[in-house]
Amino acid sequence: MAGTGPVDPGCELCTSGLPAGWVLTYVDGDPDGEGTREALLTVGNGYLASRGAAPEASADGVHYPGTYLAGFHNRLPGTGRDAAESIVNLPNWLPLTFRPASGEWYAPGRGHRLHEHQALDLRTGVYRRELVVADRQRRRTRLRQRRLVSMAASHLAALHTTIVAENWSGRLEVRSGLDGGVVNANAPEELGTCGRHLDRVGCGTDGPESLWMVAETGDSHLRVALAARTRVSVGSRRQPAHRTVGGPAEIGQVFALDLTAGEPVAVDKTVAVFSSRDRAVYEPLVAARTELGDAGPFEVLATDHAAVWAGLWERLRIDVGEDHAWQLPVRVQTFHLVQTLSPHTVDLDVGVPARGLHGEGYHGHIFWDELFVYPFLNLRLPELTRAMLEYRHRRLGWARRQAAELGMAGALFPWQSASSGRDESPARSRNPVTGRWVPDHTNLQHHVNLAVAHSAWQYWETTADLPFLATTGIDLLVETARFWAGAATYDPADDRFDIRGVMGPDEYHDGYPNRPSEGLDNCAYVNVMVAWTLARACEAYGLLERHPGARPWLRPAVGRPELEHWAHIGRRLRLSFLDDGILAQFEGYADLPELDWEHYRRRYGDLRPLAWLMQAEGDSTNRYRVSKQADVLMLLYLLGADELAGLVGRLGYDLDRARIPATVDHYLTRTTHGSTLSRVAHAWVLARTDRRRSWDMLLAALGTDLGDLHDGTAREGIHLGATAGTLDILQRCYTGLEIRDGVLRLDPLLPEGLDHLRCTIRYRGRLMDLTVDHREVRMTSPPGDEPPIPVTVRGRRLRLAPGTTVTVPLDGDA
Ligand code: BGC
Repeated sequence: MAGTGPVDPGCELCTSGLPAGWVLTYVDGDPDGEGTREALLTVGNGYLASRGAAPEASADGVHYPGTYLAGFHNRLPGTGRDAAESIVNLPNWLPLTFRPASGEWYAPGRGHRLHEHQALDLRTGVYRRELVVADRQRRRTRLRQRRLVSMAASHLAALHTTIVAENWSGRLEVRSGLDGGVVNANAPEELGTCGRHLDRVGCGTDGPESLWMVAETGDSHLRVALAARTRVSVGSRRQPAHRTVGGPAEIGQVFALDLTAGEPVAVDKTVAVFSSRDRAVYEPLVAARTELGDAGPFEVLATDHAAVWAGLWERLRIDVGEDHAWQLPVRVQTFHLVQTLSPHTVDLDVGVPARGLHGEGYHGHIFWDELFVYPFLNLRLPELTRAMLEYRHRRLGWARRQAAELGMAGALFPWQSASSGRDESPARSRNPVTGRWVPDHTNLQHHVNLAVAHSAWQYWETTADLPFLATTGIDLLVETARFWAGAATYDPADDRFDIRGVMGPDEYHDGYPNRPSEGLDNCAYVNVMVAWTLARACEAYGLLERHPGARPWLRPAVGRPELEHWAHIGRRLRLSFLDDGILAQFEGYADLPELDWEHYRRRYGDLRPLAWLMQAEGDSTNRYRVSKQADVLMLLYLLGADELAGLVGRLGYDLDRARIPATVDHYLTRTTHGSTLSRVAHAWVLARTDRRRSWDMLLAALGTDLGDLHDGTAREGIHLGATAGTLDILQRCYTGLEIRDGVLRLDPLLPEGLDHLRCTIRYRGRLMDLTVDHREVRMTSPPGDEPPIPVTVRGRRLRLAPGTTVTVPLDGDA
């Protein structure tokens, strides 16, 4: 993943020999790719994150400095669904630049860049950069920078710069500042997101090395405070600032030194960030000043930060071989997941933002993407899943309100939400092909609350966390069941229940050709997942009723008739099939004509934006058998073939298991993968039937953001669902890991592209090191006093005692 620029013998990064499997590198990157590189070079800690923007840059169309706090949102003026909340771009803490005597302050486009090397050192969590520039008088200056957002102390971030005047001597000035003049401008294609969210910026100095800044959001009235310290030194000589500069929303300190060529100047900038959302805080600026006062120099922060990262890598490892081309992408994905969701996130009241804390794509909103994220976390940092399910639980009030607005019982989480849990889905979207704003009906995706219910159950199955099931879990399951039980209408003629007017995950179909945007009837994904949820709600309720340990908790009151009604619906929901026995995506799907794929491929090449392309032609994807992303196949992804066949069977239909490969083929050949989540689901369902294609699909998913320097949307943030989903394919799908009836089951099947796979999972509070290759599975449990873990490998029952290793041969690939 190295850039292609020439090697600079003076560059520490070019010559350091950092291990290739741990470093994401770019050399002499081009302006077009800068936005995506900034997203991919983001450093964060699950509370605070900053894009990898150059400290000497401001938002200029190429660069976009963005710093975000998880859950720190505001709404710009506007009405109804045109005014969505957005994550707020905070004051920029990075500004740092220099100038030689009588020269210009260095900024992109000023002076000549001779070499730039950017390297994200994943192992230690540090973004390193080396830059060599020459000014008009050919004075060459080298900058070496290291940047971190501390995993050890979540409110601290630091930037260390070494400046060397390479071929000149004389006066050097350094300017370090805080910029509160920032606006949200990273996702201009989205409704109501761009503009100035911060009001009442105040700033000042706290002595010759320190600055402070406060700001308040215009509508949500959240306050943020930054305290920054810049220490400039040459050898042991410290140089205080000699001047303060800036305007009403910007402040900086200027340091001046007389240098001789080759003599390094160290600039150590540290910032503490607090907000009015933080716990255990009297006032954000007081807290920021106190924290900064206690913060050690960069080397100390970096050591503490690296130590926490070392522990995280132990917990999060997925090893496919140090020499394997995909080891680095796997680590990059893991790293960015943890930039957004880390142990620090557990204490916050936040959900899973679709684009991480890496940009302003989708306004920082929460969709259903957690469905792809939690399975990885459940086996690594389950306390995070629990915290985020509790975030949903706290928003049941709005979810009940949304259900009530539709005349329904129970709760309906909105398709897009943010701070309070109210519906933040946009009313309009911009067609990128025509530039026109068109109505957006994606909020018909009520399946989001099925994802929440599914996640709650999965968390319970993986952890056996009874207090969770008895409180948060049961409420989420019961309220979801109530909503869908109310949405299902009974047709006595067929003794069937119908669910009408909804949308599945496939955003190409928001209605019928003659009834666009009114939703679909009997969407297979929705109906099967409703049947599943109703069954789980009954099961959870029964389990808690019988469990003496669950007595002290208050349970939602569900009477016997209601439970029986759910069970009845769960046996009689309607599904449709194509003539050849393939499960139809929705009622009426069979009547849709095929798209002339060849024509469209020839005409446009990349068909990911197919809906926009067709709309520009006056046509609509509603009219054809096409999918943006996995929909029916999501069922196989979530449930597997056995459970799906069982559920469909219970609904009184026969799902011919022999038709599953044909089903996969049918939908796969009609899918454009317009959503990055699609490839994850497809790689999963192909794993058992077509390993080659599964692997190719996984590689495409792994490359979603990494390979997207120029024409994708990664500049607005990484795709967190795809990021975690790809890791989970390695963790659960290729190992065949399943937890059913309190037993951990393994049925590994590695694709040929992998020689082996090693990961450390945490199952019901116990750590297990798992190594799989094409011949055997090896499981090791660290020493301890706990009872052995029951494990089944390809049907063979075993018990893994603490402090032991069990090796099981795989008799030929299954
Ligand atoms: C996908 C959704 C997803 C959203 C946010 C959309 O393009 O169709 O399934 O939730 O992006 O990631």
